[in-house]
Amino acid sequence: MKLDGKVAVITGAARGLGRACAERFLQEGAKLVLADIDGAELARTADALGRPANVLAVPTDVTKREQVGALIAAAVERFCRLDIMLNNAGIARSQPFLDIAEGDFDAVLGVNLKGAFFGTQAAGRRMVTQGGGGVIVNMSSINALLANPNLATYAMSKGGMNQLTAVAAMALAPHGIRVVGIGPGTILTEMVEKAIMTSDEARRAVLSRTPIGRCGEPSEIASVAAFLASDDASYMTGQTIYPDGGRLVLNYTVPVADG
Ligand SMILES: NC(=O)c1ccc[n+]([C@@H]2O[C@H](COP(=O)([O-])OP(=O)(O)OC[C@H]3O[C@@H](n4cnc5c(N)ncnc54)[C@H](O)[C@@H]3O)[C@@H](O)[C@H]2O)c1
Repeated sequence: MKLDGKVAVITGAARGLGRACAERFLQEGAKLVLADIDGAELARTADALGRPANVLAVPTDVTKREQVGALIAAAVERFCRLDIMLNNAGIARSQPFLDIAEGDFDAVLGVNLKGAFFGTQAAGRRMVTQGGGGVIVNMSSINALLANPNLATYAMSKGGMNQLTAVAAMALAPHGIRVVGIGPGTILTEMVEKAIMTSDEARRAVLSRTPIGRCGEPSEIASVAAFLASDDASYMTGQTIYPDGGRLVLNYTVPVADG
């Protein structure tokens, strides 16, 4: 088991990629502190994991600094330490660039970038206090590097997140703390169904740019998260890696089957 005895906090854990990472981390032997703004769904997810002694659910809005601080404190109170922080909570708004209002910018940057910053700082402080070591994983996106005009706020937030990963890695390296990012391609979760796969045309647009010919499964991101959070990735820090079905290196479009 890659994460035996490690204490991991996962934000945005009620569903989607966060939930898949929770399932995988638990299989790998970790103790989990799960956070989400949707407290009811979070409680259902924690119950479904079926290991109450090793799973704590803490309803948290990652845009609120004091709530993120309380989340880390709850993890330490329950499991005595913190080894892994997965800043996964995120939102996307699909809208034309010229229609973006200040509230849209604040909402998306607030969760995706400010929330991850709060999580990185609070986790980093705790890891330093307990003597160093630990891993912080930020859930970025291929949109950190691509420029989809209908996902501008999302792209800006994830581009910023890649730099958060890089600068935090430099700041925390002297303490033996690694900071790494994951930039998934299109993975079938609720976010993608609501914000991206909204029509057959949208589906074709995604698949024509996906050499592997299908969207990813949440478990295919969770396995990368487990690797990065483990000692198997002990020489990696500051980077974001991209499980994306070949999307980023593609320089043409591929045929898409009907359906
Ligand atoms: N699904 C994909 O294809 C994909 C691709 C690239 C990156 N990502 C990233 O992966 C992460 C998870 O995405 P997903 O597809 O599982 O989305 P999702 O919508 O299925 O799940 C996101 C979770 O975050 C929670 N959340 C939202 N705002 C929050 C807040 N303020 N505080 C705490 N929790 C909050 C939601 O309640 C939800 O449970 C996001 O950061 C997203 O940007 C997803």
